[in-house]
Amino acid sequence: MTTSMTSIDSLLHETRRFPPSPEFVANAVATPALAAAAAKDRLGFWAEQSRELLDWHTPFTQTLDWSDAPFARWFADGRLNVAYNCLDRHVLAGNGDRIAIHWEGEPGDSRSLSYAELTAEVKKAANALAALGVTKGDRIAVYLPVIPEAVIAMLAIARLGAIHSVVFGGFSADSLRARIDDAQAKLVITADGGWRKGKVFPLKDTVDAAVEGTSVEHVLVVRRGGNDIGWTQGRDLWWHDTVGTADPEHEAEAFDAENPLFILYTSGTTGKPKGILHSSGGYLTQVAYTHKNVFDLHPESDVFWCTADIGWITGHSYVVYGPLANGATQLLYEGTPDTPHPGRWWELIEKYRVSILYAAPTAIRSLMKLGREIPDRFDLSSIRVLGSVGEPINPEAWIWYHDVVGAGTAPIVDTWWQTETGAIMISPLPGITSLKPGSAQAAVPGIEIAVVDDDGAPVPKGSGGLLVITEPWPSMARGIWGDDERFVETYWSKFAEQGYYFAGDGARIDEDGDVWLLGRVDDVMNVSGHRLSTAEIESALVSHPMVAESAVVGAYDETTGQAVVAFVILRAEHAEQHTPDEASTALRGHVASAIGAIARPREIFIVAELPKTRSGKIMRRLLRDVAEGRPIGDTTTLADPAVMRLIEQMSKAK
Ligand code: PRX
Repeated sequence: MTTSMTSIDSLLHETRRFPPSPEFVANAVATPALAAAAAKDRLGFWAEQSRELLDWHTPFTQTLDWSDAPFARWFADGRLNVAYNCLDRHVLAGNGDRIAIHWEGEPGDSRSLSYAELTAEVKKAANALAALGVTKGDRIAVYLPVIPEAVIAMLAIARLGAIHSVVFGGFSADSLRARIDDAQAKLVITADGGWRKGKVFPLKDTVDAAVEGTSVEHVLVVRRGGNDIGWTQGRDLWWHDTVGTADPEHEAEAFDAENPLFILYTSGTTGKPKGILHSSGGYLTQVAYTHKNVFDLHPESDVFWCTADIGWITGHSYVVYGPLANGATQLLYEGTPDTPHPGRWWELIEKYRVSILYAAPTAIRSLMKLGREIPDRFDLSSIRVLGSVGEPINPEAWIWYHDVVGAGTAPIVDTWWQTETGAIMISPLPGITSLKPGSAQAAVPGIEIAVVDDDGAPVPKGSGGLLVITEPWPSMARGIWGDDERFVETYWSKFAEQGYYFAGDGARIDEDGDVWLLGRVDDVMNVSGHRLSTAEIESALVSHPMVAESAVVGAYDETTGQAVVAFVILRAEHAEQHTPDEASTALRGHVASAIGAIARPREIFIVAELPKTRSGKIMRRLLRDVAEGRPIGDTTTLADPAVMRLIEQMSKAK
C-alpha cells in the first residue's frame, strides 16, 4: 500500500470543488429524491428500481433473501430473460430504428446496428447455438476482439440461459485453457484474428493450442482478421456458415432471476484465477440503474462510449448489459487509442458525436502526455459527461480530462467498483455532487459502505482504513465458480462477525465524509486499471527452467498506475551462462507468453537472495522500496538483514 499511501498525501491537499452547473441540474436524471427514497426504505427502493428498469416475465414478490449469507438471492421468485430486456422490448416499444451500436474497426471499417438489427442477429445466434446443443447452464467461452459479434455472442448465450465466460483476447493459450478447464466450457467462440496497433493478432491459433484435450466440443470462428488459420474438421465451424444461415425468429424463454449469467475470471492473491459468478435479475437491475443515474443517460439523445474491452467487467456492465438494458446508443471501438494516429479517440468522438465518455485513468494519462494540441484539433463539443474507472485518478489527470476533453464544464464521475461488485458502488452523481478531483466521493443511493479499522469499527473522519460494504447489493457476486469456500474466505472472513464484504482496498474518509481510494491492501497489483496477482506472475517466472525463485511487486508507474517489477534468483548453472540482461529479456518474454502481454514485467532484477522473514514469507514491502528507488524501510523482522543491502547494490549496478 506504500505507493498509494504516498499519493494520497498530495490528494488530500486538493481543495478545488466543481459543483454542477444550473443547466446540468435542470435536466439531471438523478435528483436528491433518489437518495431520499433509498434512505427511507433500501430494499423497497431496489424493488422499485428493478420494476421500473426491467421487464419481468413473472414479477417477483420477494426482494432479498439473505438467509444463506454471503450467498445472496435477489428478486428470487421473479423470472426474466436478460437478452429480451436488452433487445426485444426496445423494438416492441417502437425504438427498433434507434442505433444500438456504432462500431468502428481499427483499420477504419465501420458498421452500425439498430436495435431491430441487433435483436435479429442475436436471435439467429441463439438458434445456431441451440442447434449446437447449448442449453441453460452450459458454459461457453468467448475469446473475441471488440467486434459486434462479441456482444451478439454474449447476448445469445444469455438468451438461452447459458453462462458466458469471456476471456480477454490478450490472454495466452495457457490462461485460456485454465479458464476453459475450470468452467468446463463446451464451446469456444473466437475469431481468426483481430486488429491491434495496425496488425492482425491471431486468436484462433491460441484457441487451437488451448482446447486440445479439454471439454470443448466446438469452436465457432468469426472471420475478422482474414489471417490464415488451422482448421479441425468436425470441431471448427465458421460463424457466417452457422449463425449466418440460422432462423431469425427466436422466442426468449424466461429464467429464474438467480439463473447464472456469467463467470468472469479475476486475479486473487493465490496463483489460481477466481471465476467470479454473477446472476441475472439483480445484476441487470444494478447495471441499468447505475448506467442511467451515474452517467445521466438520456437514451434518446446521448451517444455513450465506454472504451473498455469486453473481456473485463467494465465491458460486461457498461458496454453490453447497462447500455443495452437502457436502450442507449453507443460506440464500440476495436483498437487502441493511438492507432493509426494519436488523435484516434478524439476523431471518433467528433465523428459519432459522443456525449458520454467512460475511460480508465491510465489511458487518460497516456493521452495527456502527448499534449493538448492533439485533442484541440478535434471538435469535442458533444461531450457532456466524463467517467473514470479502474484506479484512482490523480488530480492532474482529472483536471486535464475536465478542461481539455470536457471543455471545463463536463462533470467527471470517478466510479469505484470491482469485478465482484458487478456494478458501480461509489461515485459522484453528476447533477448533485460537488466534485472533488481525485475522490470517488460517496456510495450511490441504495449502497451502504464504511471505512473501518482492523476490528471493523468505523474510522473517524480524516482517517484511513479498510473499505467494506456493509449491506448486500443486487449485483453482488454470487460466488466463485466451483469454490464456495474460497468465496467466503476471500471476501467475508475478515469481518465475519459484522457480516461485511471486504473489498481489499484501503480508503480514507475526509472531513465531509467523502471517500478517497488508497489502492489494494493485498498482494494484487493494479496495472492499467487491471488487477494482476503477484502470485500468478511469480508462478509463471518459476516455471521457466532458468529461475530458482522469484518475487513480484507493483511499483509506481506514471502511465500505468502500477507496473510489474520482478526480483529473480537464477539457478546456479544459468547464472553463469547468461548476463542479467539476457536473462531479464528472456524472462519478460516468457511471462508475456505464459499470461499475456499485460503481465510482462517492466523490469526484472536478477538477485542472489530475496528478503524473507524468519517464517519464510517474502517481504514485498522492502522490494517495493527498491523498485520505486526509495530508501529501504524497516528491516528488523528480516531473517538476514544483510540481504537488502545486497539487493540494493545489485539493483543500483543495473
Ligand atoms: O482497487 C480498486 C480498483 O480496481 C479494483 C477492481 O478491479 P477489477 O475487478 O479489475 O475492476 C476494475 C473495473 C471496475 C478495485 O478493488 N478501482 C476500480 N475503480 C477505482 C479503483 N480504484 C480507485 N478508484 C476507482 N474509481
